[in-house]
Amino acid sequence: MKILVTGGAGYIGSHTTLALLEAGFEVVVLDNLCNSSDAALHAVEAICGKSALMIRGDVRDRALLDRIFQEHAIDAVLHFAGLKAVGESVRKPLEYYDANVGGSLTLCQAMAAAGVFRLVFSSSATVYGEPEQMPISEHFPTGTPTNPYGQSKLIVENVLRDLCAAEPRWSVALLRYFNPIGAHDSGHLGEDPNGIPNNLVPYISQVAVGSLQELSIFGDDYSTADGTGVRDYIHVVDLADGHLKALQSISQRTGLNIWNLGTGDGYSVMQVLRAFEQASGRPVPYRVMPRRAGDVAESWADPSKAARELGWKATRSLQQMMTDTWRWQSNHPKGYQG
Ligand code: NAD
Ligand code: UD1
Repeated sequence: MKILVTGGAGYIGSHTTLALLEAGFEVVVLDNLCNSSDAALHAVEAICGKSALMIRGDVRDRALLDRIFQEHAIDAVLHFAGLKAVGESVRKPLEYYDANVGGSLTLCQAMAAAGVFRLVFSSSATVYGEPEQMPISEHFPTGTPTNPYGQSKLIVENVLRDLCAAEPRWSVALLRYFNPIGAHDSGHLGEDPNGIPNNLVPYISQVAVGSLQELSIFGDDYSTADGTGVRDYIHVVDLADGHLKALQSISQRTGLNIWNLGTGDGYSVMQVLRAFEQASGRPVPYRVMPRRAGDVAESWADPSKAARELGWKATRSLQQMMTDTWRWQSNHPKGYQG
């Protein structure tokens, strides 16, 4: 089977491309490299000895998409391409709606024209807003995301729902990721954020490697066990495996399917920090700061639907996520540049 992976040079896309190649799929990557470099795909090739065909271009470029579908017998699309920085989305809403919503619309139009109806979409637990109960199940109502990034994910989910209702040939997976972290255990494929990281684990690992001075902990007065925010961190390799299982499943059914991809366990900022210190053997200096606007106190998944319907379960522990993050970061202190 031949799979088009949009955003395949990015963090989650590159790990999923590796998993696809290892499983025997042919892969065409479409990426404009606005938040990545093709070094990730070279790393993929070095790890598995197989390579994806890399096409540098934009998912909003309809003529390019038409050409790709004409030249390749694509069976399904994994759609990772998009912008993902929450703070930046507040400052640049048009760019975010254009890339994330506009990109998805153009992709779906090109897919329909080419007769390709299988799509796996990268959504986010952010679409749940602030649920009253934990763990979060797929049947919970979606909330009101507090930023354009989150809105863009919810809008695309709704578009895909309407599309499946209107045209029964579509077979779509909405994968709601919780907090993807970690790196491939080779230590040569990992997360390489542009500039100062927004997310917890890349920030901690850059403090440990000496690129940043100290971690700011955003609030220690939440009603959680130690007062710091709780999240469901999931190893990116487990997440990649979830995509393969979702792909398999939508190849056998049509309609819209929603699956949470998380572990079902919540860990606090403090627990993550301590686990990282243990894995790296380095102290991570920190300072407690006020809460970050838009943060929820806690969020973790009920992953039982994916276990039941996909036969998928995350298997890697928090300690392994930290060990793999540190192996990647210490091998590549400046990411793919060094
Ligand atoms: P990433 O930035 O590493 O990867 C996205 C890739 O898409 C990059 O390689 C980028 O160059 C490419 N891209 C962006 N706009 C494009 C365009 N218009 N045309 C072609 N390529 C384009 O991000 P990631 O962490 O790998 O996330 C992948 C997807 O998963 C995104 O849609 C993101 O919103 C979603 N997601 C990520 C997280 C997370 O914590 N990382 C959580 C939930 C959902
Ligand atoms: C954030 C986004 C979410 C997005 C996800 C993945 C917000 C409000 N949410 O999720 O939409 O899908 O990233 O890109 O931005 N923390 C610190 N110090 C830091 C960074 C984070 O204490 O320097 C804390 C946060 O307060 C939170 C936890 O660490 O409690 C995890 O934060 P982060 O990694 O940014 O993920 P989310 O906020 O869950």
